[in-house]
Amino acid sequence: MVGLDEDEMVKITPVQKNFVTMIEDIDLSCTLNRHDLEIITNAFETFGVVIFQSQSISIEQQIAFSRRFGPLEPSVRRHRKRAINNVYISDISNVGPDGTIMDEASEAMSYNRGNQLWHSDSSFKKIPSKASLLYALETPPSGGETEFCDMRAAWDSLESQIQIKIENLTVEHSLAYSRGIMGYNAEKHFSKAEKIEASPVLQPLVRESDISGRKSLYLGSHASQIMGMKEKESRTLLDTLLTHASQKQFVHVHAWSPGDLIMWDNRCINHRGRPWSSQKYRRVMRRTTVGGEGFDEEAALAI
Ligand code: OGA
Ligand code: MN
Repeated sequence: MVGLDEDEMVKITPVQKNFVTMIEDIDLSCTLNRHDLEIITNAFETFGVVIFQSQSISIEQQIAFSRRFGPLEPSVRRHRKRAINNVYISDISNVGPDGTIMDEASEAMSYNRGNQLWHSDSSFKKIPSKASLLYALETPPSGGETEFCDMRAAWDSLESQIQIKIENLTVEHSLAYSRGIMGYNAEKHFSKAEKIEASPVLQPLVRESDISGRKSLYLGSHASQIMGMKEKESRTLLDTLLTHASQKQFVHVHAWSPGDLIMWDNRCINHRGRPWSSQKYRRVMRRTTVGGEGFDEEAALAI
């Protein structure tokens, strides 16, 4: 386009109102200028889920792009041998270090199956994450979608009596708990360092964005119990709220193509992966995770 410089060509195409948007005409392998960074940051804060398509980025380029939004969390599994071996990459794939599809019963597959429950990344950490960036390299012909849930809209739609009742509750989150739901034995499989990172933490049930002022429900598979409540009552309330939040009208389904990169706001968006024929088709994705306000990358790396 004559007369327009490169910056002005970045295109925002909303997919679902105030929830999901696409950003087109941008190459994430390049160093972003301040203008483009501002556009992406605004889209991220306004929508919560930002989709980029047809990207071709290396691990280093994904890390460099992600770093523009804050310090990066090292992966909980950084001390293990994985197909994608970089401390800042969470290897979300069914392919092992030898390049072949891993056995369904393997430790890694069992661990990753936890991603199929609604959750917010790193809600089990003292300072939970701000954003996740998931990049697809290989995708199955069907299944393996990722679903996103707008926890702000879920909060907004609760009756005010319920909002008042739950607004100040505190919830314990635990990685060992959530992995256990899908049959993973954290006590047996976690190393010492992983156990330290997985020790339970407390989070508010309702979070408020300082930027938009919007409130959102904050719970998912890592939420093990509500403090000050009997176990059964706590479980029932957590399940009821999660069922409410995961209704169709709050959910967006993304069917992946190689080259897609999705960035989402873990402070107000839940997500889960859908099953696929994982013994038949390769699904290779890598995730970077941006720490939340006050996150200390050096301290996290030292564990
Ligand atoms: C993740 C995750 C779900 C998926 O990368 O954090 O939960 O669809 N992924 O793979
Ligand atoms: Mn996740």
